[in-house]
Amino acid sequence: MPDVQQFHDRMLSLGLARVSEAAAIASAKLIGSGDEKAADQAAVDAMRNQLNMLDIKGVVVIGEGERDEAPMLYIGEEVGTGNGPGMDIALDPLEGTTLTAKDMPNALAVIAMGPRGSMLHAPDVYMDKLAIGPGFPQGLVNLDMTPTERVERLAHYKACQPSDIMCCVLERPRHEDMINEIRATGARIRLITDGDVAGVMHTAESAKTGIDMYMGAGGAPEGVLAAAAMKCMGGQIQGRLLFRNDDERGRARKIGVTDFDRIYSRDDMVTGDVIFAATGVTDGSLVHGARRDGDYLETETILMRSKTGSVRRLHYRLKNF
Ligand code: FBP
Repeated sequence: MPDVQQFHDRMLSLGLARVSEAAAIASAKLIGSGDEKAADQAAVDAMRNQLNMLDIKGVVVIGEGERDEAPMLYIGEEVGTGNGPGMDIALDPLEGTTLTAKDMPNALAVIAMGPRGSMLHAPDVYMDKLAIGPGFPQGLVNLDMTPTERVERLAHYKACQPSDIMCCVLERPRHEDMINEIRATGARIRLITDGDVAGVMHTAESAKTGIDMYMGAGGAPEGVLAAAAMKCMGGQIQGRLLFRNDDERGRARKIGVTDFDRIYSRDDMVTGDVIFAATGVTDGSLVHGARRDGDYLETETILMRSKTGSVRRLHYRLKNF
């Protein structure tokens, strides 16, 4: 007989898939529209509606922003019917607003859920991230190493040449030196224009995606979502918050960050068991995007539970889209 918490995990995971599916379906209508804001808003509205049907006492800990800057799914918003277990929710209704607006790959609707108090309340600042997939010794690579050291350590452990290593990096001017340094080792780089949750997740399925390691600075909220995914997939991720000014430090302090140099491990960012769902909006290496087929729309969702390490891929077909 499963215990109560396990029962909730199992039942809630299917509900969670519905939530990310709804967000992806809503934003799919705006793929290629050039309108990032409309695509994001459609995803937010749909995600919130579905989320509020779940029997949970949920609190958004990673959301669309602070209460005064985000009317919906703001940090601290209570979601769900209020009947059921207390849950922390991390979400990004549309991870890759620009990817969606321009019909470029790897836009996802993403949500993770764990027991109350299990997820880092990350401020909306940048986070330096480093991720590798499952099967490597803990800490094989770390954020204190140079990019060269990371590539060499990974290549050595895999008994391959640096040129066999493929890194994934967000294409940004702030990463220019890092990109040059990685290439100087002989390693190769898949540059992505957006979407580092998918970038990190790609390392956990390297045979499928061809990516061995993710590194670079992206959003801290996306770092926590990626940590939830990696907890389910068995991969490693580390993150260190990056502050550009006192205002950012102040915002971090307000939500309880005291050590500004701390390196957060995956399990510091997500301390308990978690369930994670991501539905493809545009086509990607992990899941395909929302596709029209006559009167139908089809989506693919990756749904995972860290407790069991289960990974499901759910195909959903909706009539009269
Ligand atoms: P949005 O979907 O909010 O546009 O975020 C996309 C994203 O690429 C994230 O995946 C990433 O963490 C962040 O933006 C990087 O921020 P910036 O564009 O400022 O470099």
